[in-house]
Amino acid sequence: MDKLKITIDNRTIEVPPGTTILQAARMIGENYPPAMCYYTPLKETGGKCRVCLVKVTQSSEANPRPMPKLVASCLTKVENGMVVENETSTEVLEARKGVVEFLLINHPLDCPICDQAGECDLQNLSYKHGTEATRYEEGRREFEKIDIGDNIQLHMTRCILCYRCVYTADQITNSRVHGVLNRGDAAEIGTYIKNAINNDFSGNVIDVCPVGALTDKKYRFSQRVWFSKPFYAHRNCDKCGGEAVVWIKNNDIIRVTSRKDKFGEVIKFICNECRFDHKNMNDWSIENVYELDNDSVINANKYKHVEESPAVNVDAKFVSE
Ligand code: SF4
Ligand code: FES
Repeated sequence: MDKLKITIDNRTIEVPPGTTILQAARMIGENYPPAMCYYTPLKETGGKCRVCLVKVTQSSEANPRPMPKLVASCLTKVENGMVVENETSTEVLEARKGVVEFLLINHPLDCPICDQAGECDLQNLSYKHGTEATRYEEGRREFEKIDIGDNIQLHMTRCILCYRCVYTADQITNSRVHGVLNRGDAAEIGTYIKNAINNDFSGNVIDVCPVGALTDKKYRFSQRVWFSKPFYAHRNCDKCGGEAVVWIKNNDIIRVTSRKDKFGEVIKFICNECRFDHKNMNDWSIENVYELDNDSVINANKYKHVEESPAVNVDAKFVSE
């Protein structure tokens, strides 16, 4: 079938039928809408957080009328001749500020002690689209603490109910034991009968969680993320293929995570054995410096990449400015 033409913020691109506005904007590669729930590797994600709202000023060539209200770009498919405003629309930017304010209504401002700080999508989103102050005066939601096992720490107060971890458990692991319980203001992530989330691929829920609601129990409080150096690394693993990122501090591996693309989405999920049980430098073949393309403080003005340095000497790969 013929490609469809779409213009987003005055830039035109042709995309295959079935592409969403968000995907088309990512193909253009600049000023794409943020996404807190949509996640490419997982089926049926999107439509939960509303931060990806855009304005469709022309529905299609055949129907040049605007869409009556802002639409979620992660769910809305491209029509031929569609014209969309993202960052060029003050209406969109104002709406996004409102969504961030809503997301922060119940989210505790505990970034100084949260392990996700520095790589938190909500933190980045609020820097870019949030307001300086909150107008919210009511109490925040509180939850009973739930222990979900030895590997993963759940902080329900930080959860934004994006459902990514639920889809991950459903689609990547062979036994989902958690989900969103209750509805509305009472909705929460839980295992109901307090089952531990503990199967070969369960650790991936940590990587997909956009906030600090699910963190690595074996890593938390050991280091601020921007003080460690991430490297691509691999090992022989018959469960997941063993392609990961190791986070190194003083020549020790302090954490292992999946590799992500520039949209912060996991490229290949890793197993729990690679993630939690192999922290010895000899377990891994270290490759190159892990490139982070987003606004992360992890690499902002901190390191320079030295080309062709010996792979084993991890310190030679970075030069402190
Ligand atoms: S725990 Fe994290 S990944 Fe799961 S629904 Fe909450 S915010 Fe999303
Ligand atoms: S990314 Fe589109 S609604 Fe969340």
